[in-house]
Amino acid sequence: MAGKVVAILGATGVVGTQMLECLEERDFPVEKLVPLASARSVGKTVRFRGEDVPVQLACADAFEGVDIVLGAAGDETAKELLPEAAKRGAVCVDNSHAFRLDEDVPLVVPEINAADIENHPRNIIANPNCATIIGLVPTFPLHQAAGLKRLIVSTYQAASGAGLPGLTELERESRVLAEGGEVGETNPFAYQLAYNLIPQIGGFKDEAYTSEELKMQNEGRKIMHLPEVRVNCTCVRVPVMRSHSESITAEFERPISPDEAREILASAPGVKVVDDPAKLEYPMPLDTSDQDLVYVGRIRRDLSAPDGVNSLTFWCCGDQIRKGAATNAVQIAEYLV
Ligand SMILES: NC(=O)c1ccc[n+]([C@@H]2O[C@H](COP(=O)([O-])OP(=O)(O)OC[C@H]3O[C@@H](n4cnc5c(N)ncnc54)[C@H](OP(=O)(O)O)[C@@H]3O)[C@@H](O)[C@H]2O)c1
Repeated sequence: MAGKVVAILGATGVVGTQMLECLEERDFPVEKLVPLASARSVGKTVRFRGEDVPVQLACADAFEGVDIVLGAAGDETAKELLPEAAKRGAVCVDNSHAFRLDEDVPLVVPEINAADIENHPRNIIANPNCATIIGLVPTFPLHQAAGLKRLIVSTYQAASGAGLPGLTELERESRVLAEGGEVGETNPFAYQLAYNLIPQIGGFKDEAYTSEELKMQNEGRKIMHLPEVRVNCTCVRVPVMRSHSESITAEFERPISPDEAREILASAPGVKVVDDPAKLEYPMPLDTSDQDLVYVGRIRRDLSAPDGVNSLTFWCCGDQIRKGAATNAVQIAEYLV
């Protein structure tokens, strides 16, 4: 397999750093690595395959000769620079929200819609929102079996979902509180996160829903090719370092029992069933961090469903930096080589 020149836009952040690890672990054919970040990082290095590689300033010309760009920066940086990379012939797999809902940009979870990767007329492929990926990996196989009609989701999202600043802020708050101090000014969260929950991720948009909650609805519809599916989501930031968790109630066209669901999920790609209440076995974020599977458990009948047979409730957890971002992007890039 011919080696590729691979740039990471945002190579010094949480997702970019994880991408470096994923490229190594998955033995991606990187002929040359081009780590890019802001002026703040010029002079720093990133570690790749046992070597320190200098970080370069992200600018249009930095993409000359690049085959694949893995985007791990914010929306504005992606909007400004990825079209420049695409113009120079690189195919970009982007983690930001900038292009996800554009009609001519595929939005891909390889376990669900890998076939969409092929048609990328703008040389941009989008990686979905992390909570969307973690929720859909176990939901989609159930949809294939029983026809999804409606989803009600509550998310419990880790501090590192807000990047390196989120991770370091939760560490700081935890340390200060343990030492008996005052948390003081909080950043990037609007409130103290340690010993707390914050029921807001992203800004408030339509009908008092946040941008994160609407991503779950709109991105899910696009990925599953289900434009009519009804989704209601509440996204909550929790004082967990890593791995998002979700409580999901899914209503289907046809009956599906918890046992059938467990059987389907046991052989579904990217999923591990951890579901034995008698042994107190269920997914937890500490167990799902630093690996790529979405764990699913607490699979049960939805007691509130009128017919009692077409609706299931379950709980899932997955590492949002790996499967929710870096691994998913590298998986997409593997289809490009
Ligand atoms: N964290 C997650 O769990 C997660 C999951 C899914 C998707 N995402 C998305 O992935 C992207 C990266 O998130 P993150 O969590 O890794 O954030 P992060 O830790 O804050 O890292 C941001 C990266 O972007 C770079 N950057 C910032 N401004 C730049 C500029 N003007 N030009 C070039 N590079 C710039 C930073 O470089 P410097 O170090 O030089 O500032 C850093 O490498 C975001 O779009 C985010 O929404 C994140």
